[in-house]
Amino acid sequence: MEFSTLLFTIQNGIATITINRPDKLNALNKDVIQDLSNAIDEVYQNAEIKSAVITGAGAKAFVAGADISEFISLNKEGGAALAEKGQTNVFNKIENAPKPIIAAVNGFALGGGCELAMSCHFRIAAENAKFGQPEVNLGLIPGYGGTQRLTNLVGKGRAMELCMTSNMIDANEAHRIGLVNHVVPSEQLLPKAIEILTTINTKAPLALAKVIECVNVAGSENGFQTEINLFGDCFDTQDMKEGVNAFLEKRKAAFQGA
Ligand code: COA
Repeated sequence: MEFSTLLFTIQNGIATITINRPDKLNALNKDVIQDLSNAIDEVYQNAEIKSAVITGAGAKAFVAGADISEFISLNKEGGAALAEKGQTNVFNKIENAPKPIIAAVNGFALGGGCELAMSCHFRIAAENAKFGQPEVNLGLIPGYGGTQRLTNLVGKGRAMELCMTSNMIDANEAHRIGLVNHVVPSEQLLPKAIEILTTINTKAPLALAKVIECVNVAGSENGFQTEINLFGDCFDTQDMKEGVNAFLEKRKAAFQGA
């Protein structure tokens, strides 16, 4: 697939999506949002892709936020539409993807960049990564799900403080509070992401999709019932029979995603 603002490659079942506006620290303008929407559609639809990693071009930034230069012309309706379109077409689509999508955070992940990383199923950070929600500096609040996902990930008090102070935290602090799962030297960032996804890609694809669906509703009133229903659905899959038989026959399972 061709994109004007992204690099998109597929290798060994792993799609690597690189936001490619390094001169603007990969800020999310309309074109990036549209390209990301199309790229995530491709992840959903392309059977060759089993999982994906999102990262930013250049050493300095993952994504330094929504493109501030696009804000000046917006009114109340325009602002709400920007947030709704982005949430629907990109952020929620990533979170609800039926295939694992992780963030490899290389540098600044601010505002929409932090929100993009948080919409992924989990995050790995380079040692130079910096996270923050600086919207109140601009008279704004997070609009791509930041108030909700940050609270879910790090708790109410920390989310309040990060969104109120605009303070940036470094990778180790992000790791300490549970915002990222691993911190690695920059040159090991993508190799680490690929290593984890290579392991995940050996697992049963329909079961992975169900894990994502269940974990995404954790804490809601439907969480436990969703798990019961989807656990039951697994028993009607070929992959469950293959996985159980392979274990009993002491061989490696060959999952078909069926
Ligand atoms: N939107 C639009 N352009 C952005 C941007 C954003 N969110 N973040 C950075 N850029 C642009 C800068 O305007 C600059 O462009 P220019 O070279 O044409 O002037 C370029 O990217 C490099 O950024 P610069 O500010 O010169 O780099 P720096 O190293 O001095 O500072 C940051 C890095 C991340 C601290 C700083 O760019 C910043 O604060 N960005 C905005 C972060 C933000 O508030 N995000 C939330 C938006 S809701």
